[in-house]
Amino acid sequence: MKFRIVLCVVIVGVCLLSLAKGIEAGNDEKRVAIIYGSRYGSTAQTAEWIAEGMQGVPKVMSAKDVGDLSYYDLIILGSGIYGGQLQEDMRAFLAERKEEVKSKIVALFVVCGSTGPSAERYLDMFAAECGGITPILKRYFGGWLKKELLSPEDYQILENYYKSANQPFENYDETDKTKCVEFGKEIWEAIKNAPQ
Ligand SMILES: Cc1cc2nc3c(=O)[nH]c(=O)nc-3n(C[C@H](O)[C@H](O)[C@H](O)COP(=O)(O)O)c2cc1C
Repeated sequence: MKFRIVLCVVIVGVCLLSLAKGIEAGNDEKRVAIIYGSRYGSTAQTAEWIAEGMQGVPKVMSAKDVGDLSYYDLIILGSGIYGGQLQEDMRAFLAERKEEVKSKIVALFVVCGSTGPSAERYLDMFAAECGGITPILKRYFGGWLKKELLSPEDYQILENYYKSANQPFENYDETDKTKCVEFGKEIWEAIKNAPQ
């Protein structure tokens, strides 16, 4: 009788342990890609920090050199904003592969100069351009302006913009690693129960 009780306790213990391990290991087995469109690097940096918040699990790749995506179960897309549009590599990527990826997209982010409702509108536009998806999470982030990196055309556009807005045309860095890592953690939590 005593032996049976001990046996039962051991079996229940082993079951609970493997259940807990299973839950814990769930996300480690997820195959996640973060695909970004970036002209001057701040969206690329943001993508790396989001991946850090997801324990380094996602493969981070530029929209201009995305290969076979069949391996990935879940996809996160991020884009810089230029003239109110998604960055050109992201637009080209979506034009070509939207149908292939839209059911895998779990989160979207944009990196832009705007904040508040304007930035939220970019996120809505992004979701619409992904085929009208509703991502689990979406967020906008600040980027950087490094005048020394700008193409002559972009330099001219921004110089004119800041002049007409009566604002100084100066370098800035509005990136925020903590916020990006936090967003990564939120996605990580949200996808725990997503199907593989
Ligand atoms: C030529 C140019 C046009 C831009 N147009 C917009 C815009 O329409 N709306 C906005 O919010 N930000 C705009 N931005 C700011 C960028 O979205 C921001 O700098 C972003 O961080 C760029 O991402 P990247 O560094 O990954 O290329 C513009 C920046 C440049 C250089």
